[in-house]
Amino acid sequence: MRNLLVFILMVTAFSTTAQNTQKWWKEAIVYQIYPRSFKDTNGDGIGDLKGIIEKLDYIKSLGVTAVWLNPIYSSPNDDNGYDVSDYRNIMSDFGTMADFDLMLAEMHKRDIKLVMDIVVNHSSDEHEWFKQSRSSRDNPYRNYYHWWPAEKGTPPYRYSLFDEKGDAWKYDAQTNSYYLHYFSVKQPDLNWENPKLRQEVYDIMKFWADKGVDGFRLDAFQFAAKDVTYPAFPEGFEKNFVQYYAMQGDLHKYLQEMYEQVFSKYDVMSVAEGAGRNFQEAHELVDENRKELNMAYAFDGVDIPKRTGYSLDHFKTVFSRWDSAFAQEGWLSIFLSNHDQARMVNRYANAKPEYRAASTKMLNTFILSMRGTPYCYYGDELGMTNIGFESIDQYKDIAAINGYKKVVNTGGDVQTYMLDLAFGSRDNGRTPMQWDNTKNAGFGTGTPWLPVNDNYKKINVVAQEKDPHSELNHFKKMVQLRKDHPVLVYGKYTLLQKEHPDVYAYTRELDGKKVLVVLNFTEKKTVIQMPEAGNVGETLINNYDHFSIRKNEILLLPYQALIFELK
Ligand code: NOJ
Ligand code: CA
Repeated sequence: MRNLLVFILMVTAFSTTAQNTQKWWKEAIVYQIYPRSFKDTNGDGIGDLKGIIEKLDYIKSLGVTAVWLNPIYSSPNDDNGYDVSDYRNIMSDFGTMADFDLMLAEMHKRDIKLVMDIVVNHSSDEHEWFKQSRSSRDNPYRNYYHWWPAEKGTPPYRYSLFDEKGDAWKYDAQTNSYYLHYFSVKQPDLNWENPKLRQEVYDIMKFWADKGVDGFRLDAFQFAAKDVTYPAFPEGFEKNFVQYYAMQGDLHKYLQEMYEQVFSKYDVMSVAEGAGRNFQEAHELVDENRKELNMAYAFDGVDIPKRTGYSLDHFKTVFSRWDSAFAQEGWLSIFLSNHDQARMVNRYANAKPEYRAASTKMLNTFILSMRGTPYCYYGDELGMTNIGFESIDQYKDIAAINGYKKVVNTGGDVQTYMLDLAFGSRDNGRTPMQWDNTKNAGFGTGTPWLPVNDNYKKINVVAQEKDPHSELNHFKKMVQLRKDHPVLVYGKYTLLQKEHPDVYAYTRELDGKKVLVVLNFTEKKTVIQMPEAGNVGETLINNYDHFSIRKNEILLLPYQALIFELK
C-alpha cells in the first residue's frame, strides 16, 4: 500500500515536472523577421541580410532571445521564398553565404539564437530535383515528387491553396503526366514516401545545423506525408481540406527519423507549422517521450478574428482550451500574427488613432504573459497597422492575386473578396519596417517592393525609442518582465470570470508565486469585480500611468492592461 502511494506520488511529480522541465526554447522570446521587409542596405527596395546585421543592436535592445527568419534560400520568389530552388544557398536578393555566416556570428555574439524556416512539403519547380524529375519518367529524381500518368485519366481532385483554379494537379506535357502542388503551380510537393528524398532533407538540415543555427520551423509539414494511391476524396472536401491533408500516412515515422538524424544530434529547437487536427494529434507531435518535435504552432488563435469582428468569449475559450490541453505534457507557441496574417492590432484590437497605442500594448501584454513560447512579428512591437490597399493591382501576394482570379473566374463576389483582403491579406503584414520618419521610413533608399504605410511619420522606431510611454518601450518592459519572472513562462494558467464580456483575466502560478493579469479588450471603460482585487501587491505592468482599485473592483480604461503580484 505504502509502495503504491509512493509510486502515485512519483508519477504525479514526474508528470508536472515533465511540463515544467526548464529548456531554453521554452524560455525563448522569438522575434519573427520577414527579411524582404526589414531593412534594405543596397537600395534595390528589398530587405537583405546586411540589413538584419545592421539592426541586430535594435533586436538585442528588445530583449528577445531568438529570431525566426522566413526563408532566405535561393528562390524565384513565386511565394516570396517559400518556393526554394537551392536549399544550400542564399537568395541573391538577400545577399551571400558570407553575409549569412556573418549574420549568424553577430547574432550569437549578442546571445540571440537563429531559427530557420525549412520548406520541404514542396520545393520550387526551378529546383534541380524538379527539373530532373519532370524531364523523363525514368529519371532518378522522378519519385522525388508526386506524378500521375495521364493515360490513367484525370487524377482524383486535389485542392490547391494558391492555384487560380483551385486545382492541385498540373498537367505537364513533357512526360504526359500531372504533378501535385498543394500551393502554387511553381511549388510542386515533394514525395516524402521516398526515403532518398527524406535523406536529402535531413542532410540539408544538418548542413544548417553544422553552421550553428539553433532551430527549425517546418513549413506546412503536417501536409508532407501523403497517401500515394491518391484515393478520391468526398465532394466538397476542400471546405475542410485540413482534415484530409494533415497528419497522413507515416508522418510521425518521418518526424522520428528526422529527430534521430538531426534534432537529437544538435541543441536545436523544432516547431512544425500546424498542430494536427485535434489535441491528441498535437500531443503526438510534441510530447517529449515521442521524440518528434519540441512545440506546436496551432492556428486556432489566428483563425478567430473575422472582418465582422469576434467575441472575446471565443478568444478566451480558444486560448484556455489549448492551455489546459497542454497543462501536463507538451509545449505551445503563443502568437497573434505572422507573415500569413494581417496586422494584429487591426485584427484583434483597435487601429483607430486614439486606441492604437493602448491596444497594441494590451495585446503584447497578452502574448508575453501566457504559457508557451511567445512569437512577436516584426513591427508589432510598434503597433504597425494594415496598409489598406483598395485595388487588386496593389497586392503582391500570390495568395491574394490568384484568389482574386479564382473569384472572378467562378463568378464570385469580388467586392466582398476585396473587403476581406483589405482586412486580412498577408500583404498587410509585410509592409516595410518603420524605422524613422525619413523617406521610405528609413527602410532603404530605393522604392520598396511593397509601399511603406503612410503612418510611418508617427509610428516608427526612432520616435518610440524617445518616448518612455511608447508601444515599443512597453514591449521591452514586458519582455524583461517575462525574463525576470519564471512564473510567466512556466506558471499554471487559470482563467478567471470567463463570462466577463470586456475583460480577459487570468492568474499564473508557480512555486507559491502568483500573478494576476487583467486585460480590457474593449474601447470602453469597464470594471471587473474579483476578490483578488483586494489582494494585489506590486504592480508589475500597466499600459497607462494610473489605475483604480476599489475594494474588490478593478476599474479599467480602454484597452488597459495590468499585471499584479498577488499577496
Ligand atoms: C506556410 C507559410 O507560412 C506560407 O507563407 C507559405 O505561403 C505556405 N506555407 C507555402 O509554403
Ligand atoms: Ca536590398
